[in-house]
Amino acid sequence: MKKMPDKIAIDGPAASGKSTVAERLAEELGYLYFDTGVMYRAVTLAALKHLSRVEDETAVTELAQRVCIDVKPPSMDDGRKYDVFLDGQDVTWEIRKPEVDQNVSQVSAYSGVRQEMTSQQRRIGERGRVVMVGRDIGTVVLPNADLKIYLDASVEERAKRRHKEVLERGRSETYEEILSSMRRRDEIDSTRKIAPLVAAKDAYILNSDGLTVDGVLQKIHALLK
Ligand code: DC
Repeated sequence: MKKMPDKIAIDGPAASGKSTVAERLAEELGYLYFDTGVMYRAVTLAALKHLSRVEDETAVTELAQRVCIDVKPPSMDDGRKYDVFLDGQDVTWEIRKPEVDQNVSQVSAYSGVRQEMTSQQRRIGERGRVVMVGRDIGTVVLPNADLKIYLDASVEERAKRRHKEVLERGRSETYEEILSSMRRRDEIDSTRKIAPLVAAKDAYILNSDGLTVDGVLQKIHALLK
């Protein structure tokens, strides 16, 4: 039998199913599950709270270097997979609000912000026994990952999934609003100059259209074997 990969990178666009799949995979393997998107979301929330404009790249970068972001095991049974803290305050749900969705792509395109987040993520990832999820894990954060997966799905399917999640959380955004915000984020994430959303050359590309989480996991298990 092949040796189990020590570092697993899962990249892909918003709502491609990567977080759910990665979380389940990490649990099965007894590895750490690390969703790097929460760090960019936490910086964005900090910028919205403390700055007048998220367009001020210098100020947002300074803030990213100053704030303390922490991710810990879940302390509450309210559907969360982990606790996210920003300067000691629990922001687990706040980082999911529409204002953060609308601004996070811009904040995560700033080179200084990426530098800071990448070095923090690498420190955790390099310890191994990790399933790390994001946009640039296989290309930039852990280019030496033992298994790289790029999980894709059509934008309509992804917006449908996100809309279902949002309704379950009692919010009232429409499918059309989510679809248009997702198209905008895809565009910014995949065309930004630094660490754009792109599959690593050595990544396995999986399309999750029409597949359940179990279906995607089966494909990943086939790769592990
Ligand atoms: O996966 P998510 O939707 O929570 O990610 C939020 C944003 O963070 C997304 O628009 C792109 C950015 N991101 C990134 O640039 N690099 C990562 N490794 C993870 C997320």
